[in-house]
Amino acid sequence: MTALRLSVSTKRALGRLTTAAAAPRGQLARPVVRFASTASPATQSSASEATSAQFDAKDVIAKEANYMVATYSRPNIMFEKGEGSYLWDTNQKKYLDFTAGIAVNSLGHADKGVTSVITEQAQKLIHVCNLYHNPWTGELSRLIIDTTRASGAMTDASRVFICNSGSEANEAAIKFARKVGKSSGNEKKVGFVSFHNSFHGRTMGSLSATPNVKYQKPFGPMVPGFTYGNLNDVAAIPELVTEETCGVIVEPIQGEGGIHVATEEFLVALKKRCQEVGAVLIYDEIQCGLGRTGELWAHGVLPKEAHPDILTTAKALGNGVPIGATIVTEQVAGKIVIGDHGTTFGGNPLAARVAHHVFGRLSSQEMLKEVQRKGGVFKTQLGKLKEKYPGLISEIRGRGLIIGVQLTKDPAEIVTECRDKGLLILTAGKNTLRIVPPFVITDEQIHQGLDILEGVLAKAAKEV
Ligand SMILES: Cc1ncc(COP(=O)(O)O)c(C=O)c1O
Repeated sequence: MTALRLSVSTKRALGRLTTAAAAPRGQLARPVVRFASTASPATQSSASEATSAQFDAKDVIAKEANYMVATYSRPNIMFEKGEGSYLWDTNQKKYLDFTAGIAVNSLGHADKGVTSVITEQAQKLIHVCNLYHNPWTGELSRLIIDTTRASGAMTDASRVFICNSGSEANEAAIKFARKVGKSSGNEKKVGFVSFHNSFHGRTMGSLSATPNVKYQKPFGPMVPGFTYGNLNDVAAIPELVTEETCGVIVEPIQGEGGIHVATEEFLVALKKRCQEVGAVLIYDEIQCGLGRTGELWAHGVLPKEAHPDILTTAKALGNGVPIGATIVTEQVAGKIVIGDHGTTFGGNPLAARVAHHVFGRLSSQEMLKEVQRKGGVFKTQLGKLKEKYPGLISEIRGRGLIIGVQLTKDPAEIVTECRDKGLLILTAGKNTLRIVPPFVITDEQIHQGLDILEGVLAKAAKEV
């Protein structure tokens, strides 16, 4: 009955992979693939040393697809293991990862420090619920606030609400801004402003802040009160942000929208207008924050006059363990009372302790300097490619290790060809290649990946 055909040698080659027949559902006999963890990652041998097992991922994927809500389009590859900047699929094919799980695995895959913190904490306490204190939620909040203030970013950062994802962090920010608005005594002060090409998440509030027809239309009507402007359009700000605006949400560097950097002039003007009308300025640094630009926070390079009232983060905060955070000023926190907001999992000791470890490392000066330096290596090399293929590459954008390569054509085939050649790379916005690698990527790996990319671009350039 087992539909998955794994020979004994294949099972051995895949290391700790075992199979067992699951109870059939309908007429489909469905295999269960278990990856049992018998060795600690620190002692695991490199996946590249494994023999070439022919595991028919395609077959498994096709069968399991019937059990999953079809929200994603994915290639027929199944990733089994990672180490640093590399991933291996179930056929032991090795890939260099320029995606870091979409700006999540900044410390790389299977990081030993993260793994040992998870192991230690999991043996002690994973969850207790938010009706009780635990040693890590408060300690993580303290670390985030103290480090943020010391970094020169968000001067008035004061308190943190810990949750589980980016969307939830933004959802909390939206609710907090509404509460601040309503506390002004003006019941009509419930409006929000966000910007075209932004991405703030998929929950109803964060989706309402994400003016993308493709994402919003099937689920309308959106939460009322959202108005959309254009990033960096300074002149439009006075009309956009009014007395009835309670919150403005903006990514200092738009990620999904195509790596568009908000200008200092724009963000200073936005903050000034928010202060004039008493609106809360929210910076969504879920993708661009936590060291990705080479600063702890992307807005850290801005003057105090452009600092936010709320800052949201998630993605890299747990290096893959789900966690998000909404950082607020004392003024915002003062409007939130017990019972206003909550979460079951948010701030559980496991995720909070991992995030404490991860945040400490991502915010270290050595790490931030390396991100800046490696960002420079990418920019120099990509600049050369732009000169070489001017008909195909029109612009290189971004800061540190969040980089957009603007192409003159749809990059879908380029991404597929790169993947076939062992390089994972993302798209963003319109015709943009997005590079958000782990911070631990080496110079050699950067050159390796860019060599693959160049090979693929050279071919694509002939077709434009
Ligand atoms: C800037 C930004 N905000 C919010 C989100 C939503 O985060 P999550 O997918 O964790 O809900 C994302 C995810 O890509 C993002 O890039």
